Amino acid sequence: MSEFEGKVAVITGGASGIGLASARMFVERGAKVVIADMADGAAAVAELKALGGEAVYVKANVTAEADVQNMVRTAVASFGRLDYGVNSAGIGGAAAPVADLSLDDWNKVISINLTGVFLSMKHQIPEMLKTGGGAVVNISSILGWVGWATSSAYVASKHGVIGLTKAAALEYATQNVRVNAVSPGFIYTPLLETAGIVEGNELSTYIANLHAMKRMGRAEEVAAVVIWLCSDGASFVTGMAHLVDGGFVAQ
Ligand SMILES: NC(=O)c1ccc[n+]([C@@H]2O[C@H](COP(=O)([O-])OP(=O)(O)OC[C@H]3O[C@@H](n4cnc5c(N)ncnc54)[C@H](O)[C@@H]3O)[C@@H](O)[C@H]2O)c1
Repeated sequence: MSEFEGKVAVITGGASGIGLASARMFVERGAKVVIADMADGAAAVAELKALGGEAVYVKANVTAEADVQNMVRTAVASFGRLDYGVNSAGIGGAAAPVADLSLDDWNKVISINLTGVFLSMKHQIPEMLKTGGGAVVNISSILGWVGWATSSAYVASKHGVIGLTKAAALEYATQNVRVNAVSPGFIYTPLLETAGIVEGNELSTYIANLHAMKRMGRAEEVAAVVIWLCSDGASFVTGMAHLVDGGFVAQ
């Protein structure tokens, strides 16, 4: 029997990209999944059920605390417990140098990418403590390690996610809740399509060549590390940001 059998995962941003790929790997291993997303999750849930999994969708804006509370309540009401939180909801945001970035654009990225992770953990962790522990994986980025011109809010939010992850990991280290982050390189998902990066186009070839492996990554390659961080194999791993970046940051 898989160690994930009977366990329950909440995945913010689970309707798409890295969140959805993580949801697939959870259900394939026997976990039950709550897809929490601002976008419609009906297609994601149908796909997970077709894989033989148990999944529900809850509409949630991660910047709204009431929505985040409802997301955790839905997990417990549907499946009785919460073991894993994967916090993947995020946006790229407007591209502009600092002096040209509006306060609204700054606030939007920080509130979704950073405050959303804070609110998610704030409500996920108490539920995990009730059943003896759990694991949180926050999705940061290579831009939590290095800068990127015209993306100050995104870069700040993703560096912030790593700091937040470390602090929370220390707070719950003796209570069997492990808190880690994953820092993907550029991954083919709808998020990058909105920035004009589509597999095979000129921009994607340029971006691919920025990675030591001379390619972009796939959502499944990130999800595999998310699942490992939730697994017993990572039982002594907490407070870490794990690069999944084809060697981008090593250069
Ligand atoms: N794709 C990449 O190259 C890449 C690289 C590094 C990090 N990331 C990070 O990975 C995470 C997932 O991104 P992805 O590439 O899978 O993108 P995606 O656009 O495919 O998925 C993101 C999901 O988050 C949801 N979302 C956005 N704002 C939300 C909100 N306020 N409340 C709830 N849900 C919201 C979207 O509806 C979407 O379903 C993000 O945090 C992103 O910053 C992505």
